[in-house]
Amino acid sequence: MRAIICRNWCSPDDLCLADLPSPSLAPDQVRLRVNAVGINFADTLMVAGKYQVKPSFPFSPGLECSGEIVEMGPDVVGFKIGQRVMAISRFGGAYAEELITTHDYIVPIPDEMDFITAASFPVAYGTAHFSLTHRGQLQAGEILLVTGAAGGVGLAAIEVGKQLGAMVIAAAGSKEKLAIAKSHGADHLINYAKESICTRVKEITNGSGFDVLFDPVGGGAFEQSLRATNWQARLLIVGFAGGRIQQVPANHVLVKNVSVIGVVWGAQAAREPIVVTRGLNQLLTWWQAGRLKPHVAKTFPLEEAPAAMKALLSRAYPGKIILTC
Ligand SMILES: NC(=O)c1ccc[n+]([C@@H]2O[C@H](COP(=O)([O-])OP(=O)(O)OC[C@H]3O[C@@H](n4cnc5c(N)ncnc54)[C@H](OP(=O)(O)O)[C@@H]3O)[C@@H](O)[C@H]2O)c1
Repeated sequence: MRAIICRNWCSPDDLCLADLPSPSLAPDQVRLRVNAVGINFADTLMVAGKYQVKPSFPFSPGLECSGEIVEMGPDVVGFKIGQRVMAISRFGGAYAEELITTHDYIVPIPDEMDFITAASFPVAYGTAHFSLTHRGQLQAGEILLVTGAAGGVGLAAIEVGKQLGAMVIAAAGSKEKLAIAKSHGADHLINYAKESICTRVKEITNGSGFDVLFDPVGGGAFEQSLRATNWQARLLIVGFAGGRIQQVPANHVLVKNVSVIGVVWGAQAAREPIVVTRGLNQLLTWWQAGRLKPHVAKTFPLEEAPAAMKALLSRAYPGKIILTC
């Protein structure tokens, strides 16, 4: 099988395409013929050695994909050969024509969903749903602020927030990105390249502030948001795409009964796969009802994975970038 290989901690340009023997299968595993792969910011961290998970060399990056089951171990139940599924792969491995994974980490794809849409789905929507429900306890009628709102997880958080009945404020770095955020349901927009998040949130909320922050950007975006919290706000720490890990002043947390809440969806999947697959099945029901609209900005063939990762890092593309095999 062809696979993109990382042989040492590196940048996307140092990854190479290789022909590898097909890996063998354990009794509880399935072999997928991969059709499409979702690119994630975390893939760029993983190959650079900056991610929580550090696979041993050589490895393929890739945390999510879609494809068909072509082989099953004898302990796998509830699936069949030829079934179309989406898969999550916490330790990478999806930038390849085949992926071996356990049946805990695959979810059937609805007949009407194509492979590219399916590959764009698990990490973005799974993280958004897990963050806003399990971790943030977002309630109907509350005000949700999303930073990096046109990125992979950001756009999904807008849509999931709307499904949960929140008023959504989207914050992103350009008017083009904010137009995408609006088309995915955002009620209010903040261009944080030009405007203060704090000032605008206070204007939009008549001084009360937001109830839940979904923050995949970190650094200054988080620090500005911290000054616009409502009473008992929940701040969801999702990522640090901006490149700086913020410090949280405890006095700001104390004075309004604020909660700062970590989110790690992939590790939750490893500890409690049912939480993650149940969330994905709920999300797929919403998708089938036309209530979620995954946005794929661009596709690249597998061999152009380095260009695809650099496209993600360029901040030029809203939503998801996908590799096709
Ligand atoms: N905790 C979890 O379980 C979990 C799960 C999935 C993802 N994440 C994290 O969430 C973050 C976003 O992931 P993603 O896959 O959605 O990435 P993405 O599609 O690249 O989106 C990231 C967004 O961050 C903003 N950004 C601000 N400064 C940036 C910078 N210096 N470089 C790149 N982007 C910057 C960009 O929007 P603007 O240009 O509008 O600012 C961009 O749209 C990452 O840190 C990732 O590791 C965490």
